Amino acid sequence: MRRPLVAGNWKMNGSLESVRDLLDGIKRGIDEVRVAEVAVCPTYVFLPETEKLLAGSVIGWGGQDLSTEGAGAFTGEVAASMLNDFGCQYVIVGHSERRTYHVESDELVAKKYAVARAAGLKPILCIGETLEEREAGITEQVVARQLDAVIDLEGVDALADGVIAYEPVWAIGTGKTATPEQAQDVHAFIRGRVAQKSAEVAEGLRILYGGSMKPDNAGELIGKPDIDGGLIGGASLKAEDFLGICTAAN
Ligand code: 13P
Repeated sequence: MRRPLVAGNWKMNGSLESVRDLLDGIKRGIDEVRVAEVAVCPTYVFLPETEKLLAGSVIGWGGQDLSTEGAGAFTGEVAASMLNDFGCQYVIVGHSERRTYHVESDELVAKKYAVARAAGLKPILCIGETLEEREAGITEQVVARQLDAVIDLEGVDALADGVIAYEPVWAIGTGKTATPEQAQDVHAFIRGRVAQKSAEVAEGLRILYGGSMKPDNAGELIGKPDIDGGLIGGASLKAEDFLGICTAAN
């Protein structure tokens, strides 16, 4: 039995004040909902405050990206050890916004996965196709390529230390959710591909769905056999909505 994970990707949002309010709201609501695992990923500068407010709670936290380098002259970058310093347990790698706006290749993302893993962080590996790719009928090819980059570099067992998030790019922030059937098809494909290398890793692998997940569609999505939770953008910025998704994940 895989424990569902509901993770909030706050992206570049919030102020110190709004982050405090949001963390407070989630903390207050979470006891009742008792979902297996819940985490939030604020932008770097809010990690110290997040650690301060969430330490000792059932809610985990993580970064939205990391550098492949350990330290040195890499202006603007953040190392895995720095995420460790602020108690992060997770880190998102390969989000489509990084792949698109920062031209992150499959190989770079795989390296980030490896660096996160080596630092004891749980990487949340984002994969997913664009609308053009879906319309061209190459969704499976695209997610296979993105997944294989990590397997080729680190071996299939490395997936046991992380989480996959299937995020169709066309569903992110657009209000257009993949139907539960569309998502399930791709999730099953991903699990099947991993199973070709290791049935055991495939069975334990958590595959989250991300893309316009809201309290009112989360239950149906997470109810599918291969959907093990969600990576939530917009709806993770309101405590009530985020908690609603956590409840649905139960
Ligand atoms: P939305 O939930 O805003 O569509 O964002 C999804 C996402 O990109 C999570 O990483």
